[in-house]
Amino acid sequence: MKCRVCRGPAIIDLPRHNANFCAEHLQQLCRRQVEKAISDHSMIERGQRVLVAVSGGKDSLALWDMLVELGYEADGLYIALGIGDYSDQSREYTERFASERGLNLRVVSLRDDYGFDVPTASAATRRVPCSACGLTKRHLFDSAALEGAYDVVATGHNLDDEAAVLLGNTLHWDVEYLARQLPVLPARPGFPKKVKPLVRLTERETAAWCIVRNIDYIVEECPMAAGNRHLGYKDTLNRLEARSPGTKASFYLNFIERMAPLIADQRLSESGQLSRCSQCGAPTTEAVCAFCTLVSKSAAHAPVPVELLSRSGRKGKGA
Ligand code: AMP
Ligand code: FES
Ligand code: ZN
Ligand code: ZN
Repeated sequence: MKCRVCRGPAIIDLPRHNANFCAEHLQQLCRRQVEKAISDHSMIERGQRVLVAVSGGKDSLALWDMLVELGYEADGLYIALGIGDYSDQSREYTERFASERGLNLRVVSLRDDYGFDVPTASAATRRVPCSACGLTKRHLFDSAALEGAYDVVATGHNLDDEAAVLLGNTLHWDVEYLARQLPVLPARPGFPKKVKPLVRLTERETAAWCIVRNIDYIVEECPMAAGNRHLGYKDTLNRLEARSPGTKASFYLNFIERMAPLIADQRLSESGQLSRCSQCGAPTTEAVCAFCTLVSKSAAHAPVPVELLSRSGRKGKGA
């Protein structure tokens, strides 16, 4: 197996590019894909301060590494979600990555700073864990970025993630979600700009990046997500991809290029009347925002151990 670029020994085959790559040229390919995403979608300007949301997994650590390597001023934000050992370990990987490279990492702990964790929030609000978790992360990404005066929040969503979300939204013809499924969300009053620079890379490619760059990351998936629908969509796309390499990229990237502009006017008015949350000041349509409501219900609830929910999650319908 030879590298397409230098003909030296290859370390990875990428059927969607119909080619093999050595470690050096794999990195070149990843860098170019990230630079292309950033420039095609005007994600980050030179000199802007970026807050990278890092989970300790391969995608977000690879993203942070790439942005720093590409010369961006990028700090990290880790949110300790209190999902048992999974959260403890993912925090260790993130802190080690930052300290070994002398990078700035901000940590927000749900337990210490807000008095609850994701399993408890899920039980207290009767939301599925991923929904309580998603609401919490979105709110804390926004507030940390605004507090720290960052220009952009970057997340590690990759091509597999975005294609799976697109498949779900398409199967339900959820036009409003489809219209908003873009790799960039512009800043609005009370909300920072949000970007997904890894949308042109698959998770196999970001994992390979971590291996060749000696980045240790948490391999386990979140125990609460096991069996959810999103993972089922990923499996389905992987089966299609195995039969026809390139399907995933064409499904998602052509959607962004050809379809998203046609349905842009289906986005619910993002400038709709928003007031300020009476407790935290975040934009909201209610008197108190969804996050502050979640905090007050969850902090008042007895702590729920993660095992309780992850087991019942696995017993669920699955994907
Ligand atoms: P997920 O929602 O787990 O698929 O993660 C999507 C992206 O959200 C990751 O690539 C990270 O950029 C970010 N993220 C997930 N979990 C955390 C966390 N605990 N702290 C900070 N960022 C996170
Ligand atoms: Fe949010 Fe698993 S990381 S529920
Ligand atoms: Zn090579
Ligand atoms: Zn609030």
